[in-house]
Amino acid sequence: MYIHVLGSGAGGGFPQWNCNCRNCAGLRSGQIRAQARTQSSIAVSGDGLNWVLFNTSPDIRAQLAAFPAMQPARQIRDTAIAAIIYIDSQIDHSTGLLMLREGLPIDVYCTDMVFQDLTTGFPIFSMLEHWNGGVQRHPVPIDGSSFTIPQTPELRFTAISLSSKAPPYSPHRHDPHDGDNIGVKIEDLRTGKNVFYAPGLGAIEPKLVPFLENADCLLVDGTFWRDDEMVVQNIANKWGRELGHLPQSGDGGMIEALRAFSKPRKILIHINNTNPILDEDSPERAQLVAEGIEVAFDGMDVCL
Ligand code: MLT
Ligand code: MN
Ligand code: ZN
Repeated sequence: MYIHVLGSGAGGGFPQWNCNCRNCAGLRSGQIRAQARTQSSIAVSGDGLNWVLFNTSPDIRAQLAAFPAMQPARQIRDTAIAAIIYIDSQIDHSTGLLMLREGLPIDVYCTDMVFQDLTTGFPIFSMLEHWNGGVQRHPVPIDGSSFTIPQTPELRFTAISLSSKAPPYSPHRHDPHDGDNIGVKIEDLRTGKNVFYAPGLGAIEPKLVPFLENADCLLVDGTFWRDDEMVVQNIANKWGRELGHLPQSGDGGMIEALRAFSKPRKILIHINNTNPILDEDSPERAQLVAEGIEVAFDGMDVCL
């Protein structure tokens, strides 16, 4: 299985257009050693030809252009995107679908709650019906059963509902439902290896443990270092956990949680521009290195 990180940043990307935090200003001026990041998306393939896109980021045009495998050029209009899976309906995970309208219909897999958001609060699925009928939607089960996608028969997908948050625009932002956010286990049926992808993860619930324990690779929420990261930087009065993102540091944080799992390669993804781990010379980054935790970057390839 091939995993290609199209975008490793959280909403806003890095640097964020209107942000002058230490990281964003430091990257622009060259004062810190760091790499720019586009918004959150990965592509996964069993055969290296047909790819399943996870999320459609607002930065999708640049992401596709930066990854030649996405355009196999077999005919006058073509793409290697076989299907799209949405892990939630957040703006940073969905907006890019509007940029794919020339290629509709596309097979789209999402939970009932994500489908509801993307046909009501942010009705892009409904709008896009005017382009060749729009998306061909398939439900993602969250009852523990697996599903396959005909174009990628080597891969098997199992979704698990996560404790995180529906988007601010969602009719049920303050009324959480199973399926608002999912993590997905992706198995390669030939190699027997699996990756668990969960860029929005607010809490490590007991039901998650088998997924984390048995994965060969984890691509998990790396949004914030501190729960109060945006508060202490005078950016917003919002706490990480409140936004559905478990911070890395502190009691019960992601670093402590990941220590319990010895098998998987551990990679943080969906990194917010305020997170000090983006500065490659920061003590926080050094702490991750010491813990054996990697930080995803745009263009990163993982082969399992
Ligand atoms: C999130 O991950 O919490 C959201 O994507 C934030 C946003 O983009 O508004
Ligand atoms: Mn996000
Ligand atoms: Zn910033």
